[in-house]
Amino acid sequence: METRSQWGTRAGFILAAVGSAVGLGNIWRFPAEAYANGGGAFFIPYLFALLTAGIPILILEFTMGHKYRGSAPLTYKKINKGSEFIGWWQVLVAFVISTYYATIIAWAMSYSVFSFNLNWGADTESFFYGHINIAEAEGQVGSFVPGVLIPLIIVWFIVLGVLFKGVKKGIEIANRIFIPTLVVVFLIIVIRAVTLPGAAQGLEAFFAPDFSSILSADVWVAAYGQIFFSLSIAFAIMVTYSSYLPKKTDITNNAFIVGFGNSSFELLAGIGVFGVLGFMAAQADVAVSDVVTGGVGLAFVVFPEIINTLPGLNGLFGFLFFASLVLAGLSSLISISETYISGLVDKFKISRTKAVVFGGGLAAIISLLYATQGGLYFLDAADYFINQFGVALLGLIEVILIAWVFRKLKELKTHADDISDIRLGSWWTFSLSVITPIVLGYMMFDLFRQNLLRQFDTPTGNYEGYADAFILYGGWFVALGALVIGIVMALTKWKESPDSTEQSETKEVK
Ligand code: PHE
Repeated sequence: METRSQWGTRAGFILAAVGSAVGLGNIWRFPAEAYANGGGAFFIPYLFALLTAGIPILILEFTMGHKYRGSAPLTYKKINKGSEFIGWWQVLVAFVISTYYATIIAWAMSYSVFSFNLNWGADTESFFYGHINIAEAEGQVGSFVPGVLIPLIIVWFIVLGVLFKGVKKGIEIANRIFIPTLVVVFLIIVIRAVTLPGAAQGLEAFFAPDFSSILSADVWVAAYGQIFFSLSIAFAIMVTYSSYLPKKTDITNNAFIVGFGNSSFELLAGIGVFGVLGFMAAQADVAVSDVVTGGVGLAFVVFPEIINTLPGLNGLFGFLFFASLVLAGLSSLISISETYISGLVDKFKISRTKAVVFGGGLAAIISLLYATQGGLYFLDAADYFINQFGVALLGLIEVILIAWVFRKLKELKTHADDISDIRLGSWWTFSLSVITPIVLGYMMFDLFRQNLLRQFDTPTGNYEGYADAFILYGGWFVALGALVIGIVMALTKWKESPDSTEQSETKEVK
């Protein structure tokens, strides 16, 4: 009997997958990455990475989820008994990401409220670090920061609430609301951004192509890194989501829609961000290059500063900007968390409700660490270490196992072709078996080299110059912990024979 949860509609699945892909990475990572890596010329390696890794892996993961109908651990187990731990490893990496991703959404939630009164004042940098990160050095915990703790509780309340409701009534409906709202809100921001004085200079700086950059290996590494992070691939997410697809669906077409949809949003974000950066540069009478940043600094220091100086409706613009971070973040967090909910349901045959309580509850409790005075340091270390593994290592292991060790590409290609309109050409096989492993292999090597070089450049030789002990437990333990716990999970006995494990949507059947 077919009892596994299912999406209600094709659009529901696509919106959920786009919701997962479109996240903080699109808004604060892409614009700065593109700018730093050749501006307009970055589109060449970026498109190449999308077509040789992003979309091929999306198709691969959609096909795996659809064919084996399982969470990542179950899917890997069905492919080969010994590889179940890869699925758990990916799930545990997703678990760690979910703990700190929730915290960033919590900051954005606070800031959307602060926007109305421009509570951050003139010195936005001191405000951010003074409010969020009061500890003096890494490794100190201190007390809870209420301005983070309260929104963090709200974030988990929403996410776990959605997950409780199940795939069709929870995740699908949430994305049907969040994603169209996000697009409308973000379009308003972009229109305002490009009509600000100075916006044209910002866009010029963003799009100005530096063609010499495409000869640099770093730029290609950046392009592949961005595609992996942005499309949520190699994190168990897309396998999980596609395991809820109905038998009849179109995998290849869906993957193209999700891949191009995500990149379109990324481009839109680049235009919006550089529009306002151009405005900021014009106001301060400096070059655009002097004001460019990405990440936390862009969202929580530079944006508030820009919002302060807008000619009108500052509060509203601020609210819309932070609300879009919240919406984009929530839909990604839901997908990240669903990986372990689904894994637990499959493996231990527990109800979805129990899995949400245990898995989601544990993630929520751990995330409280980041709501303390020393939280930002822990977040930074965990993020750096887990992403290194997430992007390069897990992706590399995944393609090598599927393409070369288990030699499954042909079988998966037939499966995808049987149900999809577009037939996969040799482009797909070649991308996955040759191009992606080479690029990811180089990325691993490069990472290793950079870490080695840092030994000579910084006082401690550690990431950000953090103390050894902190790097050990805040970084290495977290990253290795995901692997070790993954292996332990894989060694745990299945509640029932995995082949008969089908998830039931208890909530929805009634
Ligand atoms: N892809 C999403 C983003 O760009 C969410 C995500 C982040 C997924 C990190 C996996 C890992 O933010």
